[in-house]
Amino acid sequence: MFNERVVSTFDNKETPFYYYDLKLLNQTLSECKLAADEHHFYVHFALKSNFNDKVLSAVKAKGFGADCVSGGEVKKAIEVGFDKNQIVFAGVGKSDAEINFALDNDIFAFNVESVQELEVIDELAGAKSKKASVAIRINPNVDAHTHHYITTGLDENKFGINSWDLPLVSETLKKCKNLEFLGIHFHVGSQIMDMNVFKSLCIKVNEMQQWFEERGMPVKILNVGGGLGVDYQNPDENAIPDFKSYFKIFADFLNIKTHQEVHFELGRALVAQCSSLISKVLYIKNGIKKNFVIIDAGMTELMRPALYQAYHQIENISKLKVESQKSKDAESHISHLNSPISYDVVGPICESSDCFGKEIEMPETKRGDLIALRTAGAYGEVMASAYNLRPAIRHVYSED
Ligand code: LLP
Repeated sequence: MFNERVVSTFDNKETPFYYYDLKLLNQTLSECKLAADEHHFYVHFALKSNFNDKVLSAVKAKGFGADCVSGGEVKKAIEVGFDKNQIVFAGVGKSDAEINFALDNDIFAFNVESVQELEVIDELAGAKSKKASVAIRINPNVDAHTHHYITTGLDENKFGINSWDLPLVSETLKKCKNLEFLGIHFHVGSQIMDMNVFKSLCIKVNEMQQWFEERGMPVKILNVGGGLGVDYQNPDENAIPDFKSYFKIFADFLNIKTHQEVHFELGRALVAQCSSLISKVLYIKNGIKKNFVIIDAGMTELMRPALYQAYHQIENISKLKVESQKSKDAESHISHLNSPISYDVVGPICESSDCFGKEIEMPETKRGDLIALRTAGAYGEVMASAYNLRPAIRHVYSED
């Protein structure tokens, strides 16, 4: 993502900022779309992972739908111009105001997460003399083998309706006259790298659709959620996830009937690699036990390391400019090569957890150098906070 030319475009830019490689974003979106189209699968982009305007416009332009989890996200999707017929609304705690907003805008479907929510949507739709389309989010009790904070499909998680409540769901659906049952929805977790998880999910989906069909309730939509992981360790080598193999699992293992549509809700896989958080080194502190690089971005701009001990590759990108200069001068090249130094890279926030990486090997780093925190396009700027009264995060977009 970075070379001397790209880094030169950062000269005089106020840090920290999120840098977006729009070319990589478009390539990623195209590959995903192509791979999904091959099986006639539909992909809704999970806005929760990134709601930057330029990102959303690119996603929309490629023909993806929108997966929203709040009234704010539904509103944003409409403003950006997503087709209302391609907007789905999920979430365990939809407020009456949010449901009314979605009903007024005739979105495609609600992914419903409890029996009580079904009754509330029915009542609110009835008051508007409308019919709301609903998919039932089922908790399949499939272990996503990912960080426990981003596992969502186990019995102990708050998401979805447990299978033992399904008889009550079918009774409720039959008595709620303002609801139209569209299908079933699942999402077992995020950053899933073990493809067997998706195979297990397919088996559950097949069981569940059979359950509904046997009760005379045709399942038109199979929504299998998102969760495809990305390579945080090798962002340049694996910049674009293997969408072909991912979709093939569902094509091979799902029992898809001719009248059915298969929907996906991808977030991270589409946007994580196209953005890095760029920050400037404020200070170097050399201690007896540790060397600290203190940068001007903190957990307020990228919360994932503090919240989930998440790994983001850390690069001193100013050195790319220096190295490139040196390679032009072959004689000085060898003599100037630095041996790496071990640093803890930390932010300015008054919390010990405000740390991006411990014992990171980097070339000798100095005040003013630019540091890139890679693979920050998903759940990065959307999770930023104003803690310590930090200013709103800035953006820079690639120029080609
Ligand atoms: N659908 C539903 C119902 C979801 O809850 C999520 C993510 C997605 C789709 C999109 O999942 P993805 O394809 O992005 O894995 N903040 C955490 C991730 C939380 C994910 C929440 N749900 C992180 O930074 O890792």
